[in-house]
Amino acid sequence: MVRGKFITFEGIDGAGKTTHLGWFRERLEAKIASTGHSVVMTREPGGTALGESLRELLLNQPMDLETEALLMFAARCEHLAQVIEPALARGDWVLSDRFSDATFAYQGGGRGLPRDKLEALERWVQGGFQPDLTVLFDVPTSVASERRGAARAPDKFESESDSFFGRTRAEYLRRAAESPERFAVIDATQTVLDIQKKLEEVVSNI
Ligand SMILES: Nc1ncnc2c1ncn2[C@@H]1O[C@H](COP(=O)(O)OP(=O)(O)OP(=O)(O)O)[C@@H](O)[C@H]1O
Ligand SMILES: [Mg+2]
Repeated sequence: MVRGKFITFEGIDGAGKTTHLGWFRERLEAKIASTGHSVVMTREPGGTALGESLRELLLNQPMDLETEALLMFAARCEHLAQVIEPALARGDWVLSDRFSDATFAYQGGGRGLPRDKLEALERWVQGGFQPDLTVLFDVPTSVASERRGAARAPDKFESESDSFFGRTRAEYLRRAAESPERFAVIDATQTVLDIQKKLEEVVSNI
């Protein structure tokens, strides 16, 4: 049995991840249709019943920074065991709206938790496991905050400052520079159509 592939979408709040997920999933489904496998769409924090309960707490409840990082990885542990690993093992592909790079970016870059602590948790929960491909939607913080607008009440992270998102973005870019073979960095200031063209190239290169 050929293992499926694990693809993640990353970027600061308002970068455009969710905008492109449905369309990207259809392109992937079309690509693997002849194999009889499907694409499992999921998100972090979340992806399981327990993970979604943790998401509710993580996005709304004030907590110590270390508690926040531990809960993120606890939710991820469950997500890997219940959803991601079984899907990949049966040959399906998994597309996730955020994964560990987000924890490095938000809790590490944004909030300043020392990287070695996050690396220890990453080793514990993931061993050497990483996505096969990570698409990073990169935008300046001003563009992201304009896009977030005032459409709905912001959660704990969405109400963070521009400087928080500046540090978060910088950590995403550092992670991408560290693993260029895993990342596709997309200039997400472009129009939705231009971004789709780039994503089309990404899909054909997988
Ligand atoms: N390329 C684009 N050009 C203009 N507007 C865009 C573009 N991409 C997304 N938007 C708009 O920006 C807003 C935020 O996009 P989206 O919800 O996809 O971001 P996100 O990265 O999923 O954010 P979050 O991390 O908060 O879920 C939406 O209103 C969306 O319509
Ligand atoms: Mg989103």
